[in-house]
Amino acid sequence: MKKNFVILSIESSCDETACAIVRDGREVLSNVVASQIDIHRRFGGVVPEIASRNHSLAIENVVKEALYKAGMGKDDIDALAVTYGAGLLGALLVGVNFAKALAYAWKKPLYGVSHIKGHIAANYIGSDLTPPYLTLLASGGHTALLRIADYDKTEYIASSRDDAAGEAFDKVARILSLPYPGGPEIEKLAKSGNCIYEMPEVHIKDELYFSYSGLKTHVINLVHKLESASSPYKKEDIAASFQKAAVEQLVDMTKRALAITGDKKLAIAGGVSANALLRREVDKLKEQGVEVHYPKLCYCTDNAAMIGAAAYYMAYCNVPPSPLTLDAQATVPLK
Ligand code: KG4
Ligand code: ZN
Repeated sequence: MKKNFVILSIESSCDETACAIVRDGREVLSNVVASQIDIHRRFGGVVPEIASRNHSLAIENVVKEALYKAGMGKDDIDALAVTYGAGLLGALLVGVNFAKALAYAWKKPLYGVSHIKGHIAANYIGSDLTPPYLTLLASGGHTALLRIADYDKTEYIASSRDDAAGEAFDKVARILSLPYPGGPEIEKLAKSGNCIYEMPEVHIKDELYFSYSGLKTHVINLVHKLESASSPYKKEDIAASFQKAAVEQLVDMTKRALAITGDKKLAIAGGVSANALLRREVDKLKEQGVEVHYPKLCYCTDNAAMIGAAAYYMAYCNVPPSPLTLDAQATVPLK
């Protein structure tokens, strides 16, 4: 593999239009994210049609800004990369079509990247992490444990039987009338709350899976009950109790998986990996000799740098570039 391999990557799977320039999979030369959060906030969540329209409006300038910030032009780019799924189809199509047009016009190879693999690859940025390792992916769309046996070999360990962890954070935030996205808001509120509410234990002993639907419904019912009885309650206490249970499940399942695979290296990924309580709890695994990796906060939630990092390791493993018939996919397999 050539040294100084530079990838221009694009991500538009949800509500961030993003472009990055990444060298050798680990060094970010520029990372531009145009967030639509303020647009979707008034609807309490992402409106797919509005997301794709805003991607269309933003994408050209986002790509130009990424090139400008890296001080680069087309001749400095070795390959292009784009998220092809999973995500909102209309939103993905904007990035995929833009990347295909660039690949055709610039005559560069194009790598279609799975968003999930992108989140995991965020851990390579600025770090010395190498496979094999276990990864805990916790985002708005997925909650899963995967074993990265090698850069191009992912083994499925466990996933959620219902909701994703981030989705539960968002729904609980909504019942507490907190703005979208809910995860950071719950975290903020929980800091001044006490874990006074008991949360349900959802797991069958020794089984390895995630489940967030029961926990979410429990909190929604609890808030309805407190409100209909006109009982005074503090949102902070609900947030703290929910966050503790949500994080506990992530950490407990990760411990079970580490015991099964025997891995001594762990990387956490996805939007929920920005959560400070989760990081503190995962950090405790260091006492048991586990090497722990987290992405930098700016690479936890959706960005294009992680897509560039994942694409680099596809090229590194001789995965052939995607044909220009590459299409967007709403879902992609976890592996
Ligand atoms: O990875 P991501 O940006 O998008 C998906 O691929 O889904 O994750 C977004 C999710 C949202 O559900 C958001 O509420 C959650 O990550 N999130 C957090 C935090 N920051 C973002 N959840 C808990 N604590 C946080 N600090
Ligand atoms: Zn994501």
